[in-house]
Amino acid sequence: MTNPPLLSVEGVSVELPTPRGQLLAVDKVDLEVAAGRTLGVVGESGCGKTMLSRAILQLLPKKAALSGRIMFDGQDMVQLSPEALRRLRGPSLAVVFQNPMTSLNPVLTIGTQLIETLQAHMGMAAPAAAKRGIELLAAVGIPAPEQRLRQYPHQLSGGMRQRVAIAIALSCEPKLLIADEPTTALDVTVQAQILDLLAREQQRRHMAMILITHDLGVVAGRTDEVAVMYAGRVVERAPTTTLFSHMRMPYTAALLAAIPKLDSPPHTALPAIAGRPPDPTRPLRGCSFAPRCSRADDRCQAAKPPLDTADHIGGQYACWHPLQPAAVARA
Ligand SMILES: Nc1ncnc2c1ncn2[C@@H]1O[C@H](COP(=O)(O)OP(=O)(O)OP(=O)(O)O)[C@@H](O)[C@H]1O
Ligand code: SF4
Ligand SMILES: [Mg+2]
Repeated sequence: MTNPPLLSVEGVSVELPTPRGQLLAVDKVDLEVAAGRTLGVVGESGCGKTMLSRAILQLLPKKAALSGRIMFDGQDMVQLSPEALRRLRGPSLAVVFQNPMTSLNPVLTIGTQLIETLQAHMGMAAPAAAKRGIELLAAVGIPAPEQRLRQYPHQLSGGMRQRVAIAIALSCEPKLLIADEPTTALDVTVQAQILDLLAREQQRRHMAMILITHDLGVVAGRTDEVAVMYAGRVVERAPTTTLFSHMRMPYTAALLAAIPKLDSPPHTALPAIAGRPPDPTRPLRGCSFAPRCSRADDRCQAAKPPLDTADHIGGQYACWHPLQPAAVARA
């Protein structure tokens, strides 16, 4: 018998009340992450990536309605008490947000924040926690870590702040790290360094990771599996190498075409996907991508394609008229 996955998200939906009506931010999502593995979650702005990660972390806005089941490390996250969730977040389940200032306290030194986390969650005495804090800062590539411990977040660059946030997230040896667009707010030159740092630490610690991004290029080579989200749903899911060699969803191919090319001449405008995602307060009857899809026909307008294994080699896709693998290069 195979072990259950570390995380399993089963039929999870998140609805939010808005002045325009109920907004369906996440729509019946199923996902699994095994211990030590990495999942990339990719999609355009507003497709529900952050709401899905907040559902997993049980950090949804108060008025949000969650349905479905989230099992993490053998526990039903939805049933856990606030106290049990606090004990879990940090030591077992950590998060790195897009803006490091979300997780750093501006009025405390880096050292105080790191050392207090180690004392509170790992039960370390102050001297051992200080020593470990220095090791962690060095591990995430911060020069002169002893001096950095005495500094405040505003004294660091954006890239260094994100490294500190990663050091704090890693400090309790979590089983799963959720990194929600960890480099979007950073300078392009720093982005690859931070992504490589996350990938290296993930492998070294045999930690599972969910890497959330709007850039399909970011997950290539850094994840085991990819889930592509559109309008709240997972629309394609496959092992990463399979996704890039045999993608079936026209939406995934459009995301691929939108990746900036290294050999493009300077100042080339990025190809954006034409059109906009549908209004999430007015879910469409058919495929949500139909208004933007060159392959859409009456069937696509009339009925939502299920996420199916169909003929995807090792993956699933939700499309009535999938790309043939050979057609991907032309899509
Ligand atoms: N607090 C909120 N109240 C109501 N609606 C919200 C709230 N936060 C987000 N939404 C809506 O929920 C949907 C999903 O948002 P979410 O933040 O999960 O998207 P995302 O994929 O993370 O986008 P981005 O790439 O911009 O971070 C969007 O339509 C968004 O406008
Ligand atoms: S179901 Fe139809 S509209 Fe949707 S992605 Fe596939 S071809 Fe395009
Ligand atoms: Mg987001």
